[in-house]
Parts: sequence; C-alpha cells; structure tokens
Amino acid sequence: MKKIILSGSTVTGDLTLGNYIGAMNNWKKLQEDYNCFYFLADLHALTVQQDPKTLKERTYSFLAQYLALGLDPQKNTIFVQSHIPEHAELAWILTCLTPIGYLNRMTQFKEKSEKNVKNINAGLYTYPILMAADILLYQTDLVPVGEDQRQHLELCRDIVGFWQNRYGEGVFKMPDAHISKMGARIMSLQDPDKKMSKSDENEKNYVLVIDDPKKIEKKIKSATTDSGTEITFDAENKAGLSNLMTIYSVLSGKTISEIEALYVGKMYGHLKVDLAQIVIETLGPVREKYLELMKNHDYLDEVMKSGADRARVRASATLKSVYDATGLVARR
Ligand code: AMP
Ligand code: TRP
Repeated sequence: MKKIILSGSTVTGDLTLGNYIGAMNNWKKLQEDYNCFYFLADLHALTVQQDPKTLKERTYSFLAQYLALGLDPQKNTIFVQSHIPEHAELAWILTCLTPIGYLNRMTQFKEKSEKNVKNINAGLYTYPILMAADILLYQTDLVPVGEDQRQHLELCRDIVGFWQNRYGEGVFKMPDAHISKMGARIMSLQDPDKKMSKSDENEKNYVLVIDDPKKIEKKIKSATTDSGTEITFDAENKAGLSNLMTIYSVLSGKTISEIEALYVGKMYGHLKVDLAQIVIETLGPVREKYLELMKNHDYLDEVMKSGADRARVRASATLKSVYDATGLVARR
C-alpha cells in the first residue's frame, strides 16, 4: 500500500514561482511513489471577498495550471474542494473540538486580519480547521507544503489529539508535514524580507507561472539586491541575492556552492540575466500547455469530475466513521 499524500492551494491570484518551487515541483516528484490527492481550495478562497465570476474562471485556470505544471490526473486524484461536501461537514465537527486559544496563536490569521481590516470574517479565523478537515478526511500520511503552512499542520496534529482524547483512537491518522529544505520559502522580488505571495498587490514582487517571457525577464532583472558586488549566499545580509540564488539552484539543479564558483568575479547583473533565462526555459512550456488546456473547458470538467468521484469514496468513508463515533444517528 502506497502512503497517502495530500496538498492544496487556495484559489486566489495566480500561482507564482514560489508556489511552484515550494509546492507543485515537489508534488510532481511525489506522484511517482505515493497515492496523491491534490486539490483546489476554493472554499478557503471565500475567506476573502471574491467576485463570483472570477472565482469560477480562476478555478478552471488553477486546474489548467496544475496540469500544465506536470501533475498527472491519471496518477493523482486532482479535485475541487467544494465538490466534496464532506470537507465542510467534517470542519464543523472539528470546529467544536478546537479551543479558540489555539486559533488565536495562528500567525497567518493575525497577518491576514491586519491586511484585511474591513473583512475579518469568522472563516478567516477558522480557516486552519477547514484545512485540518481537508487533511484528515483522506487518512493522509504526509502533507507537502511550504514553510508558511507549518503552524497550520501543527494545529491539525493538535486537533487529532483533541479528537483522540474525547473519542479514542482509530478514526484519524496522524499526518506529518513534508517541507523540503531548499525553496520552502521563496521571497518577494522587491521586498526580500517577506514571502513571494500570489495575493501581493504589487505584481513586481512575484513571477507568475503563466507570465510571458518578457515579463519574467523584466521582473527578475529589476529584483532588489544589496549594494555589494560579490556573489555569495548570505540570507541575512544579502537576502535579495540569496533568494535569487535559491531559485537558480532549485531550477538548475546546481548546488549553491557550484553557483558561487560559477560567478566568481562576475556581477549581480550576470546572474540575473542567466537566472531570467533559466526561469523562462522552465516556465515557457508550462505557459504553452496552460494556454492550450484553457481552450478545452470540457476536458477540465472531465478531470474535475473523475477526481471528485475518486476523492469522495475516501472522504465519505472517513466522515461516516466520524459521525458514528460522535453519536450522530446514521443517515438512512
Ligand atoms: P498558497 O499560495 O498560500 O495557496 O500556497 C500554496 C502552496 O504553496 C503551499 O504549500 C505554500 O506553502 C506554498 N507556497 C506559497 N508561497 C510560497 C513561497 N513564497 N515559497 C515557498 N512555498 C510557497
Ligand atoms: N492553506 C493552504 C495554503 O494557502 C492551502 C490548503 C488548504 C492546504 N487546505 C490544505 C494545504 C490542506 C495542504 C493541506 O497554502
């Protein structure tokens, strides 16, 4: 029996190079050896105000981006969160088990509510509980995410503990985070002290997976670096440069010291020119495949449907044992 992997991405903005390096690139490698469930977190997207038409289009666009990035719908179960009603149902049960003190500690909630003062809704607060439900419904062993999601994963594990204290063992599997050392946190291009985020209001801060080559080149060349001249990795004092070197390393397969050796006596500009080329070579084919897939909504509908059919079998089996253990009378 293969181990179960599950991960997802919130359907907001467009996928960035940070998502690709911190998430989908790893997902792609894992699809060979694990039973993987990759989903589009559209319910999570509702924690910020969404234009209904855009949300719908974006869900198709995200699916096309997943596929274009190399996630194979035959090898993996790829689905849309809201197509599996068990996510919202389990989230309620878990909400009733989670002390608010635990939610109060979530740094992402604090950050998001500071950014979003006009819309601090309860969903933003209970967001990590829905995330725990996503994970626990599938009896997940490993959750590949970027560093920013570590705290949410810890909360999910705490919630399994609360459940076991009240109802005993046997219903949920305890999941582990799977965070790769390299590229778990790609930083913003203009402001390398914060993470590259698809919800950033300044588009110069990120490279999108579907950006055209000209845009990619412009964004990489104008990335903020320090006033030094030596190309050495130093995340603290040369945050911008080190971020570019991390991207370079992950995409080219070269180690950081190989890159340092390659650029002895050269200037930051040289590295930027080469890096832009590497990013364009990586993302060019992705963009082409994406544009092709977007012409075929029927195919995307089919992928969503067959993914949901497979996911639902597993999710409904877990929810049934949860309802049973909780003392809810079984539906006839
Ligand atoms: P999100 O963009 O928040 O929906 O995240 C989707 C996935 O991408 C999660 O696994 C995140 O941890 C990962 N991720 C998002 N931004 C970055 C980043 N800047 N660097 C590395 N991983 C990221
Ligand atoms: N919160 C995650 C993010 O924004 C997306 C997500 C939702 C997720 N549910 C999940 C990731 C379950 C892993 C597992 O990155």
